[in-house]
Amino acid sequence: MKETQTERRVRVCVVGSFMTDLVFRVHRFPRPGESMPGEEFGLFLGGKGFNQAIACHRLGAEVIMVGRIGADYFGELFLKKMAEEGMSTEFVWRDPEMGTGVACPLIDASGQNAIIGISRANRRIDREQVAAAKEEIARADVLMLQFEIPRQISFQAATIARNAGKTVLLDPAPFHNIELPIDQPIDYIVPNEIEAAELAQGDSIDNWAIDELKRGRQAVVVSVGADGAVVYDREGRRRLPAFSVKVVDSTGAGDAFRAGLAVSLAQGKDIDTAVRFANACGALATTVLGAEPSMPALEEVESFLARQGG
Ligand code: RIB
Repeated sequence: MKETQTERRVRVCVVGSFMTDLVFRVHRFPRPGESMPGEEFGLFLGGKGFNQAIACHRLGAEVIMVGRIGADYFGELFLKKMAEEGMSTEFVWRDPEMGTGVACPLIDASGQNAIIGISRANRRIDREQVAAAKEEIARADVLMLQFEIPRQISFQAATIARNAGKTVLLDPAPFHNIELPIDQPIDYIVPNEIEAAELAQGDSIDNWAIDELKRGRQAVVVSVGADGAVVYDREGRRRLPAFSVKVVDSTGAGDAFRAGLAVSLAQGKDIDTAVRFANACGALATTVLGAEPSMPALEEVESFLARQGG
């Protein structure tokens, strides 16, 4: 029988961010000091944590999201969407004083984005709130982390997962001018090429990735947009090509990619198979405007892959 992604319901925990995206479509990015008319506006749910969580859910995983929103209208929108999707909101905390995180993605005519984000309530998630979700973090097959919440909180969650023998996948975005602490229990580092170059601190990305493998990472996977992804592991370095699609908006494509990777790895797939699946998720996410609406469902990814020849 042909093996499919639906065989085992894996568990993913995301300790991460919620951001409301105020999206402006423009024919080109503005220059400093320039006022220019935009072409389209949309308000979408986003945030790297939320995008990855809802993407994993749509790919069939059982997902627990741990994060903090404001006691405001934007926060309500997240709770409503999660309820509609059948996702647990047990560990979504509300900040009585600080509003929900916001971001402003600008999308140009080619679908490229430039994003300004302000984390707001996301920055105030505290150690007790993560500790409250300790059992769920330990029960998950994979823990997914990003840097839109305080790093020490991400690393607290990573330690809980590692102590339970679980896999930790870090998306080091947005980049915060840091060296990744060597001793942090991270199995997979999945930056884009800009973040990888920053992490390499003037050295080559290849050398940096090899150093990370020596520090005990299972793999480093660098996503390179339309060029696919570069995998570094004990087998060496290789590039797995992206799928060609008509790009409408690349916002959230990286999150769909990381979700596909996490779900596949949790299912025990080998890294190349997981990256191919992730590339399909990322490609599909670029074909729809807005982050949350673009996160593909498992059936879409499977039929897309079938059309690509397996
Ligand atoms: O990765 C895309 C996300 O980054 C957007 O949804 C935006 O909220 C920013 O956090």
